[in-house]
Amino acid sequence: MEKRLSQKTIFLTGAARGIGATCARIFVSQGAKVFLVDRDQVALEALAAELNQAGEVAIPRVLDITNRADVEQAVHSMHEVWGRVDVLINNAGITRDSLTAKMTEEAWDQVIAVNLKGPMICTQAVFPIMKEQQSGVILSASSVSALGNIGQANYAASKSGLIGLTKTWALEFARFGIRVNAVAPGFTATEMVTTIPEEIQAKLVAQIPLRRFATPEEIAKAYTFLASDDASYITGQVLYVDGGLTAGF
Ligand code: CAA
Repeated sequence: MEKRLSQKTIFLTGAARGIGATCARIFVSQGAKVFLVDRDQVALEALAAELNQAGEVAIPRVLDITNRADVEQAVHSMHEVWGRVDVLINNAGITRDSLTAKMTEEAWDQVIAVNLKGPMICTQAVFPIMKEQQSGVILSASSVSALGNIGQANYAASKSGLIGLTKTWALEFARFGIRVNAVAPGFTATEMVTTIPEEIQAKLVAQIPLRRFATPEEIAKAYTFLASDDASYITGQVLYVDGGLTAGF
């Protein structure tokens, strides 16, 4: 069977660990080349070295997605080397959880900058190339927290903001052959959930119909589908991959 992402070139943010690193491995296994972006140089270079063992398929670039000049330069390099930018995955995201009454302005600003402004900058950077190609896919990481979660005012605002961006971009970019969707993971077994106090983790699991957190692979497979031509008529959508958590909302 032909690989799902054969010949696709993918700009992937937040690639060094968690869902991002799992996406990188699955995308490569499906025939893609990946331009890996993260702030963590050591983890990023280790991942790129692992992926490049079987051929030159990964390029690592250490940068902060809130820095427009660095993002533009990275997209330009990717385009120069591979000649195309088929897919952007706005995966990078951070949490700075605290109850609203105690949330600092710094915690608000950091989360909004990385989770909301970063994807805007990356999207603006790839758009002219995708427009020229008359094809492209832009996927962003929303979250079940977009619908509200205790202690995550900043994160929830950023993740519901991404839904607004996704729908707006889908409308603006459809005429250029660019599809835009979001994946909204439920609670997923990565380092991020280890910040949740254990008793709250237990409460959360009890609320999930499938009674467990997602694996990073289960989220990466949703990205793989939406990035592939199998999703050629899907745009402007939010795919919840949440074990049924939001089904009763
Ligand atoms: N459900 C029910 N009750 C909750 C709760 C939850 N999810 N989160 C907090 N509470 C309750 C606590 O039980 C506590 O109740 P009482 O006052 O009755 O004891 C009250 O809220 C205050 O909580 P804390 O004592 O823990 O207060 P704190 O200031 O020390 O910490 C907090 C607050 C930082 C929000 C901490 O509770 C916390 O980390 N909660 C988890 C936040 C969370 O779900 N983060 C998700 C991270 S994973 C992720 O973000 C990925 C994704 O996309 C889903």
